[in-house]
Parts: sequence; C-alpha cells; structure tokens
Amino acid sequence: MRIDIVTIFPEICRAPLGESMMRRAQEQGHLDLHVHDLREYTTDRHRKVDDEPYGGGQGMVMKPEPFFAVVEALRKETSGTSKVLLMTPQGVRMDQRYVERLAADAPSQLIILCGHYEGVDQRVVEALVDEEVSIGDYVLTNGAIAAAVLVDAVVRLIPGVLGDDRSAWQESFSKDLLEAPHYTRPATFRDTPVPEVLLSGHHAAIEKWRDEQSLERTRQNRPDLLD
Ligand code: 6GU
Repeated sequence: MRIDIVTIFPEICRAPLGESMMRRAQEQGHLDLHVHDLREYTTDRHRKVDDEPYGGGQGMVMKPEPFFAVVEALRKETSGTSKVLLMTPQGVRMDQRYVERLAADAPSQLIILCGHYEGVDQRVVEALVDEEVSIGDYVLTNGAIAAAVLVDAVVRLIPGVLGDDRSAWQESFSKDLLEAPHYTRPATFRDTPVPEVLLSGHHAAIEKWRDEQSLERTRQNRPDLLD
C-alpha cells in the first residue's frame, strides 16, 4: 500500500512511523510511505499556507492552492485508485470498524491531508477529499499526529505486517469487548500471585476465565460497548 501524508510538520509523522513495526513494514515492502511538506507546493516567496478567514473570526484558514497542487502532483505518480482523506476534528470519528474497512478496501494509494489552524478552505474538502476523519472527541493542535495514528492502525492490518496474521483481528474492539488481563513471569511478584487458573494448564477453564474478565473489564471501563 502506498501512503502519502501531506503536512506542514513532516517530522511529526516521520518519527512515529519510522520505528518498530511501521519501520519494518516499510523495510519489508508492505508499506510505501511518503511524507510531504505542504510548503513545498507553495509558489510565493513567503511559502504562505494560511490566510485570514472570509467573514471574520478567530484564527487562520489553510489556503486551497497548495493542497490542489500537491494532490494533482501525487495523483500523477500512481496509476491505480487513490483515496484522499483529510484529518480534522470535524470528520467522521474513526474506530476499529472504520480502520478495517479502509484496510480491506485497500486503495492502491492513500493520500492523507493534515489540517492545522482553524481549518482548511472548504473548496479543498469539496473538490479533493473523499472522507474527513477525526481520531476522537478531543482537539489536537495539528492533524499530523492524527495521521500517524490512522496510518499505524491501518498498516498493522496489512497481511504480513504483524508476525502472526491472526493477532491483528483477534484483539480488543474486533469483537467489541476489551481484552482480559495478561500476566508473565514471575508467578508471584511482590506478594501478588498470578491467578491460579492461568497456571492450571486447563485450556477450557482459562478461556472461560478470560471471557469473564473481558466482560467485567468492559462493564467497568467501556459500558458503552455493551449497549
Ligand atoms: Cl484529525 N485533528 C485535530 N486537529 N484534532 C483532532 C483530530 C484531528 N481528531 C481528533 N482531534
């Protein structure tokens, strides 16, 4: 999968996507990631990416011209289907189902535009963007952090990226429950023992215990998932 991220803060995306699993995904050819600086698609001397809002109000709005220039340039580079996302707190709220659909649709190119300041000129949204995406109900200072979150969540679902293909789909949220607690050695740590059932070797009993723990954790931390 080719992914192009467009932002005025390229390093914010490069750092989290350049380590660990995301780095390996690129080294092994599962992910072809390109991070672009929006300012390189400006044509004026000051490399201006924002301007005052028409109609007045607080904050600055991102100008349309650099976004059109970058999307038109990036689309020329690939022949297949491309999908354009805009990271914005005004978007649809992403969850595991959204991520799974994006990974399953597997457009040959995903172009992710990051919003900053108060917002992006609406003509960008109308002419270029397929979907506006938010990563949750809180406000970040910039969309580059959100883009890194989305890319990590999608790329880990590409077959072969995780060592074991089953684990990606088995985890929390794929079955709408939180995971059971995990334990490793030592069997007793600072007077606290590991639950006995986990040492019993009884696979059916262990599975039953995990299911009960899952349900109880979900009840405690995420009752909304049980509705
Ligand atoms: Cl995509 N961008 C910003 N700036 N804030 C957010 C967000 C995105 N998603 C949640 N909060």
